[in-house]
Amino acid sequence: EKELVILGIETSCDETAAAVIKNGTEILSNVVASQIESHKRFGGVVPELASRHHVEQITLVIEEAMKRADVHFEDIDAIAVTEGPGLVGALLVGVNAAKALAFSRNIPLVGVHHIAGHIYANRLEKEMKFPLLSLVVSGGHTELVLMEEHGSFKVLGETRDDAAGEAYDKVARTLNLPYPGGPHIDRLAQEGKPVIDLPRAWLEEDSYDFSFSGLKSAVINTLHNASQKGLTIEPKDLAASFQESVIEVLVGKTVKAAKAYGVKQVLLAGGVAANKGLRTALEEAFKGIPQIELVIPPLYLCTDNAAMIGAAGSILYEMGKRSELTLNAYPGLDI
Ligand code: KG4
Ligand code: ZN
Repeated sequence: EKELVILGIETSCDETAAAVIKNGTEILSNVVASQIESHKRFGGVVPELASRHHVEQITLVIEEAMKRADVHFEDIDAIAVTEGPGLVGALLVGVNAAKALAFSRNIPLVGVHHIAGHIYANRLEKEMKFPLLSLVVSGGHTELVLMEEHGSFKVLGETRDDAAGEAYDKVARTLNLPYPGGPHIDRLAQEGKPVIDLPRAWLEEDSYDFSFSGLKSAVINTLHNASQKGLTIEPKDLAASFQESVIEVLVGKTVKAAKAYGVKQVLLAGGVAANKGLRTALEEAFKGIPQIELVIPPLYLCTDNAAMIGAAGSILYEMGKRSELTLNAYPGLDI
């Protein structure tokens, strides 16, 4: 039977990435050029800088992915590219590279939603079983997504303000930790004790929405009040307390939704899925619910990459999705 070989391209934020995926689940290559070092000194991603780096890197990254996979453009059945959401100038670099290749080599083009990509990262590890629930936690998104079949995404709840990763990065900044702060808070939290009282944003009884801005403010106020009183707060204890609050709500709502919708699987997705505390807490919670399979991707598939875009693109291609050469970048695209 004929193989399906997809070239995936991802440039929605600060990683320039390309990957080659065979038959939807096999990673032939997965190249990620991170820009973190360039953005670090500004304390966050600078959109103009991100676009410029993508322009410098995109051709090299695609060539490297093709070389490592040992394939030529004649072998590529389709090019899958992140069309949104993300930074418009960053997205455009990937979209234009994909369009140029699709046009010049006469290869079908498939636009992929970034969050669909994060969810499909799991398919590179485990077969998907429907209905499934995905907890998507990244720098830009916090969502509970129900999937009843391939390509169908129903958002049960989402953040009303900051994304989980954004809250991690902002709290890290108040503790003078480098960008991106998530991994630093995670590491500190393992060392500290959650002894500081911080709020949990459960919101309305029946809501699967999230909110993290109140928690972030509570952390800032705690530090401010302590310094006014001449008290010192251990950063590791504050990190542990913050992390406990985030995780309690994320895990609590995920378990509740998973039971309510009778899902077969729960998939963790997005950059914050790399969080050790969250991974452990989810494992603990689902240990007691054997009828639901918990799938947690390896760290390199959690943060932005193109293997996940190739994985999602493979399914969309098989479902018949094709994008026109007029494909644009859609910064606020809904899933
Ligand atoms: O998915 P991603 O690479 O990019 C977006 O699509 O946003 O996620 C990046 C986010 C950042 O906010 C980063 O701080 C967070 O993921 N992150 C973590 C950890 N590793 C990355 N947050 C908490 N704990 C971690 N270990
Ligand atoms: Zn992402």
